[in-house]
Amino acid sequence: MPNWETVEVETDLLICGGGMAACGAAVEAAHWAKKHGLKVTLVDKAAMDRSGAVAMGLSAINQYVGLKDGENTIKDYVEYVRNDLMGVTREDLVASIARHVDGTVHLFEKWGLPIWKDAEGAYVHEGRWQLMINGESYKVIVAEAAKNALGMDNIHERVFITEPLMVDGKIAGAVGFSVRDDKFYVFKAKAVIVAMGGAVHVFKPRSVGEGLGRSWYPPFNSGASAYFTLRSGCEMTCQEVRFIPVRFKDAYGPVGAWFLLFKSQATNAKGELYMQTNKDELQKWGPYGKVKPVPANLRNWLMMLDVMEGKGPIYMQTADAIKRISDAVEDPKARKKKLKELESEAWEDFLDMTISQALLWAATNIAPEEQPSEIAACEPYFIGSHSGASGAWLSGPEDLQTDATRDDYFWGYAHMATVPGIFCAGDASGASSHKFSSGSHAEGRIAAKAAIKYVLDHPEAPSSNGALAETLKEKILKPLDVFQEHKDASSDPDINPNFLKPKMAMFRLQKIMDEYAGGVSTNFTTNEHMLNRGLELLDFLREDFEHLAAEDHHELLRCWENVHRTWQAEAHIRTLLYRDETRWPGYYFRSDKPDLKEDWKVFVNSRWDPATGDWEMSKKPIHQIF
Ligand code: FAD
Ligand code: ADX
Repeated sequence: MPNWETVEVETDLLICGGGMAACGAAVEAAHWAKKHGLKVTLVDKAAMDRSGAVAMGLSAINQYVGLKDGENTIKDYVEYVRNDLMGVTREDLVASIARHVDGTVHLFEKWGLPIWKDAEGAYVHEGRWQLMINGESYKVIVAEAAKNALGMDNIHERVFITEPLMVDGKIAGAVGFSVRDDKFYVFKAKAVIVAMGGAVHVFKPRSVGEGLGRSWYPPFNSGASAYFTLRSGCEMTCQEVRFIPVRFKDAYGPVGAWFLLFKSQATNAKGELYMQTNKDELQKWGPYGKVKPVPANLRNWLMMLDVMEGKGPIYMQTADAIKRISDAVEDPKARKKKLKELESEAWEDFLDMTISQALLWAATNIAPEEQPSEIAACEPYFIGSHSGASGAWLSGPEDLQTDATRDDYFWGYAHMATVPGIFCAGDASGASSHKFSSGSHAEGRIAAKAAIKYVLDHPEAPSSNGALAETLKEKILKPLDVFQEHKDASSDPDINPNFLKPKMAMFRLQKIMDEYAGGVSTNFTTNEHMLNRGLELLDFLREDFEHLAAEDHHELLRCWENVHRTWQAEAHIRTLLYRDETRWPGYYFRSDKPDLKEDWKVFVNSRWDPATGDWEMSKKPIHQIF
């Protein structure tokens, strides 16, 4: 084993991740911990200023309910989420976040985030729930507040959480390693908040070759949350509910501002509006085909039908939208000014959050006021905070339960997983979609408050097992040994009969998922036979993981990212197999079960049993609370 130092950190509460949910957790936990003399420690694989999905900045805050101004009610938000997810949502969790999210947004503003205001000083909305921001420095601002709250002595950046530390079936912390120094970390904690985002690069991306690494979801989030919760024996939910966003093609620029703020329309190559020409298809999808807005997956589906019929490319009609808005201004001088304003807003939307899309427009001579721009469905991602729903199965808050829900949705602490002491937020928590950046931060705060309460109720020191930590260290550092042992067997460090480099491992995983689990190359379509074959191939891939090799710290990180992704992949395939219907066409289509079935209006939960290594699948009821 390489001669790496073991660093032990003992704490009360461990926050894994440094993104939106983790920053929310840090601010809240610090407040309560100070009152009770507790220690809180945060670990991020990257640098918090620019880590996670908000690294590049964002152009909007997508969840703001406007409760104080009476703009909307909690019930309105719950209904919106329920409809968008084809009826599958935990209303207690969605409401728990919705009732706190406005307070989080007000904190962001207090910390210095510029939110657009109109002449009367009211927030400028993109859509009913979304606020426009100048968000290039969004993450820097939110991270600064978290750092100030915890203090840098309690924050470990560039440390990759690799494995939960489970002693006698109980959570005792986590282990990981530095991606810069020869240090292996053992964090001992009484409670852990899992907030390490979702997963990308599980499926083969559209951007391959020179474009590899471009994806909508940030390449830094590689399934660590799902891995952590699965490996510690937590029950998971909605592992089949992947998210496929439609984005400006090849650089993945956002579409929300175009559809909602500019009221732009999308067409096929002939200029036909697929949302209108294919609208009869909506009748097939039960009550969800009739709701407004049309659920995200069904919007995708109507577009995909045209693509599958060979009517692509699909275009966002940016020039028409800009013209329509500017033409509405009567005075010619004011109209010209408006046009300039719209042009700059169009570019700023990308410059705030997806700079590469602005570069691609510039490189390919796109002027949005003059011509349309291609959009396309991305490859599938796992993101419980957006319009997907995958994550851990959590207890809701007690006060939002009814007699009907209490037994199914409540076990003591708000937003705690089924393993006591593990709390989840943001992409790590399931069945509570549409929380986005603001709701993830709010959920981090809720989980942190509950986690501190848990620590106060369970003050005993975390269980300890030094031999276990040593075994984990040996296992985690093994790819470094494999490389050193065999590197001279060939003249190319990437090609060697004795080992598998992490990039090759990733390509293999992506090929399996793409071809068998409904990726881009099968038009997101799969069936029982393909899924079973995918599971078989994942087993073979896992066997070869014994021979993963890492040349340096960076490759060691990449090795373990792929191990994490593979667990996310398996949970996904198993859940796709279990659900006996197609509920989310546009996200995936089961060709052997092509219809929605009302008796499958249930959550599908999954759990890997750490004691036996078996997977358990189950149905859980959906209760309508609002
Ligand atoms: P993240 O914020 O992604 O944080 C995950 C954290 O975990 C990161 O700090 C990462 O470094 C860390 N991490 C990962 N693995 C490990 C590990 N093994 N060990 C330690 N740390 C680890 N929301 C909006 O409100 N408005 C928008 O306009 C908007 N646009 C978006 C655009 C894109 C491209 C994407 C991907 C998302 C967008 N969202 C938007 C959604 C929003 O970004 C997410 O909902 C939010 O960031 C989720 O928070 P999170 O904390 O769960 O994950
Ligand atoms: S972002 O996460 O990259 O900002 P996107 O730009 O697609 O996402 O959408 C931002 C917000 O607008 C999200 O709340 C999304 O659900 C919503 N949205 C996007 N397109 C539409 C549409 N056509 N109809 C209704 N809501 C939409």
